[in-house]
Amino acid sequence: MRDYSMCMDGRPLILMSNRGPVGFVADEDGGLRAQRSGGGLVTALTGLIDIVPAVWISAAIENGDFQVAHEADGDFPIEGAGVSTRGRFVVMDAEVYDRYYNVVSNPMLWFIQHYLWDLSNVPDIREQELAAWDDGYLVANELFADAVVEELGTNPDAVVMLHDYHLYTAPASIRARAPEAFLHFFVHIPWPQPDYWRVLPPHVRNAIVQGLLACDIVAFHTPRYARNFLLSCEDLLGLEVDYGALTVTVDGRTVAVRHYPISIDADGFTAMAAGPEVRAEESTFLRRRRRHLVVRVDRTDLSKNILRGFTAFDVFLDRHPEFREDITFFAMLQPSRLDVPEYVEYVERITALVSMINTKHGNTDWMPIELRFESNLPLAITAYKHFDVMIVNSIFDGMNLVAKESMLVNERDGVLILSENVGAYEEIGAYALGVNPFDVEAQAEALHQALTMPYAERRARGDAIRQVINENDIAKWLQAQVMDIEELRGRAVLPPDAA
Ligand code: F6P
Repeated sequence: MRDYSMCMDGRPLILMSNRGPVGFVADEDGGLRAQRSGGGLVTALTGLIDIVPAVWISAAIENGDFQVAHEADGDFPIEGAGVSTRGRFVVMDAEVYDRYYNVVSNPMLWFIQHYLWDLSNVPDIREQELAAWDDGYLVANELFADAVVEELGTNPDAVVMLHDYHLYTAPASIRARAPEAFLHFFVHIPWPQPDYWRVLPPHVRNAIVQGLLACDIVAFHTPRYARNFLLSCEDLLGLEVDYGALTVTVDGRTVAVRHYPISIDADGFTAMAAGPEVRAEESTFLRRRRRHLVVRVDRTDLSKNILRGFTAFDVFLDRHPEFREDITFFAMLQPSRLDVPEYVEYVERITALVSMINTKHGNTDWMPIELRFESNLPLAITAYKHFDVMIVNSIFDGMNLVAKESMLVNERDGVLILSENVGAYEEIGAYALGVNPFDVEAQAEALHQALTMPYAERRARGDAIRQVINENDIAKWLQAQVMDIEELRGRAVLPPDAA
């Protein structure tokens, strides 16, 4: 990758995502502390601002964000990033945010894009949902677009990169006010087939696709999602698409549809796994471990298929009593989106199922499933290092970086059980034990196969996965996008003297 570190003035990139790199929370002394945000998107873009000066626009979410936004006129420094890189908060009314984030983005769009709706029962699109679209999602997107247009006013040459399903309608608004802007959009979650978009009324689904088509490049993690997007343009809007060239023609413009598999900072993550914070967790963790260790680490998201994963473990224990007391399933689940009722109910169902399985199979000396509702990266990495089997059985998942991170640092030649509907499957599925996420029997069987696999095969599969991850790391993901932007724009992303 080109070294952009010498370019410290100007802001050649305008990044935008709902969640920004940091949130500000009150500390013990009554001051404000910057807390790094979690999630794959933030991690990937943090890699980008390490090398390219940028302004990163995001929503004010935490209590302290509003104070920071007010005091600094929206702008704040991002610790650890270059001096020209700044954060900028978009402040919106709590009710607007609630409608935009908790009603439309999650669950409505998230559930559509992960095929999660139980369509004979839900969703009902009623006044509340329609109002959430008009007075929440569209309003929030307009506010995001305002911030970009203002930034373009002082830096008209900047490339604008928008990220994820919260921001679908912002590009059309930016394009209307800044026709020459170069707009790049990355969708980090699956793009479903066109018929599933028909869950939404025509004016909503059309605004989503048209919003994206205001961009110059629309990017996804895999060819499958890119193709589904092209199909949607053709089927929902009757547009001319070229499946070979991966383009859509709209209003005389050509939009490029691309796929770049996101990855991790392989060297940085490996270093973190060897660091003191992880070592501090390891001794306690290892003291408690049984002979075999199964691990999963996820947000408590319905797309992650946590219930079927535990049910498969239940079936496995029924079928293979010889593993009793010799195995633990360690599950670290980070509570997520708890303002959305479906997510609260999911946590309750997980708790009840785990308690049932532990009561059924466990005894006073042995608890088959160790369930932690927490977010603790050093402990998660400790589990990654020492598992025998890692389960990633998502119903659908844009990429799933846990699969990559965990296999990269595992030290026990652990085996990955991987859903065929996860973006990462296209890259590393051949070396994992692939499963259909709905097939509980297959997942129980995969557990047995992984736990009885000869060590030489475990090692060969793991090494092959590590090779892919080391070759296709985050730098490659960023580089491929920068090259395409430069090619399509006919200009460097940065001023020539910055390269
Ligand atoms: O792309 C999906 C994503 O934005 C991931 O980056 C991240 O893991 C997750 O969703 C975070 O969701 P939220 O910001 O709603 O907590």
